[in-house]
Amino acid sequence: MSDLMDKVKNILDEAGVKYEFTKLPDDITMEIDVHMKFHGKDIKFAMANIVLKTEKGLVVVQKRGDSQIDNKKLKKLLGVQRLSLANREEMEKHGLTPGIVPPVGYDLPIYMDKKVLEMDEIYTGTGDRLYTVKLNPHDLVKITNPNLGDFTNLSDKQSSGRVLSGIRATGRLHLGNYLGAVKGFLELQDNSDYQTFYMVVDLHTITTPYDEKVLKESVRNIIIDYLACGLDPKKSTLFVQSMVPEHIELAYLFSTVVSIARMQHLPTFKEKIKMHPGDVTMALLNYPVLMAADILVYKAGLVPVGVDQEPHLEVTREIARKMNDKYGLNFPETERFAMPGEYVPSLLGEGKMSKSVEGSYINLTDDLETIKAKLAKAPTDSGKGGSVPEKGGVAVILKFVELFQSKEKRAEYEKNYVGEGIRYGQLKEELAQAIFNELKPIQEKRKELEQNKEYVDQVIKEGAEKARKAASETLNEVKKAMGLNYFENN
Ligand code: TRP
Repeated sequence: MSDLMDKVKNILDEAGVKYEFTKLPDDITMEIDVHMKFHGKDIKFAMANIVLKTEKGLVVVQKRGDSQIDNKKLKKLLGVQRLSLANREEMEKHGLTPGIVPPVGYDLPIYMDKKVLEMDEIYTGTGDRLYTVKLNPHDLVKITNPNLGDFTNLSDKQSSGRVLSGIRATGRLHLGNYLGAVKGFLELQDNSDYQTFYMVVDLHTITTPYDEKVLKESVRNIIIDYLACGLDPKKSTLFVQSMVPEHIELAYLFSTVVSIARMQHLPTFKEKIKMHPGDVTMALLNYPVLMAADILVYKAGLVPVGVDQEPHLEVTREIARKMNDKYGLNFPETERFAMPGEYVPSLLGEGKMSKSVEGSYINLTDDLETIKAKLAKAPTDSGKGGSVPEKGGVAVILKFVELFQSKEKRAEYEKNYVGEGIRYGQLKEELAQAIFNELKPIQEKRKELEQNKEYVDQVIKEGAEKARKAASETLNEVKKAMGLNYFENN
């Protein structure tokens, strides 16, 4: 039994309320609906405890399993502008782990949705994934005295918990993609409150000049990288964008509410035409509209992407609002899910780790010797000085120490820097080893997958099928709302 669970028991005993612990089978998955099936109860008897991050700090939100958070309502209740899932690091500071948050026993403000109180018993996690605790929600209110509010909706239950993201198919994934994107994808995949869709965006890749053979290889390689990193087709829908043509159709329909001027003034568009002045195409201008369609065709509420994509999410929200106002649809206002390693610096000490800058990146496939050689080239200084550099090569190296070793290790080096000095040779040796240790299992899994063509083919085909099913529902709804349903009586 875990410490956290002991704590939960103590609190409940002290309060003198009735409760019941049930042990879950050892091999059960984390999905709430699976747990409730085990208990033989409807999902509305489940209560989720979710840790959210706001600009004012973390809060815990408690809601019924059959209802979904309405971001607008919840922001209003909390009096905040920003709302996203707390990440692992932030939760660990409060002794919590994602997906297994107990109903009591922490120092965060609690907001309970009133619908929870309609039940005379609820089942919830104990902070130990092996047990569920059953209790009366009114007793819980007496113990924790939560803020009560009305911030969930029962309708459209599956879609607002949807998450979608994509990576362009230009070569293989590197360490920057892994830390900045895929790790966030994994975290959301393993959180039972979300239904995750992850794709390779080949249609966005062809908005700038490309090579067909390279494209084909890259698409497959990224799917294999996804699998090797731990994305699981049983939990996430993994697919290739162009195999779900509903995205394109919806993008066209969306383009009827988007002005040309709005697209031309986006910073992302301006950058791209600077890089490709001879190829300023309609596809490039349409890039953000297609991205909005990618997201909204699943009505995804949460998108794990880099901060550079915020202008595109703004466009997505504008399109959602316009379509909702004009055609009475119910698209969500999508939020970005910020990830802990989202800014991975270039090994060269300036800018971001990028596939297009030689020497800036480490590949997921690099072996120990290659990583050592790349780190050896990363610029440093004499190892000593009055204050630790906040920019440049040394700052980058320290950031990597933090990401792959620990914050403590970084602090130790920082102390050395202002004291007896850092020996970079040894630092880089240890760091290379730490990076390789994280990559090794991924590389081993990748080797296996490379041998298993049939399995990868199957993942790609089944992913597209699953995605099309969800996407076509939205597309039909939109066509009907726009008057494009000619052979339906209603
Ligand atoms: N524009 C994104 C990028 O360059 C890729 C992308 C396309 C995407 N469609 C998306 C990301 C939908 C998230 C959701 O990184």
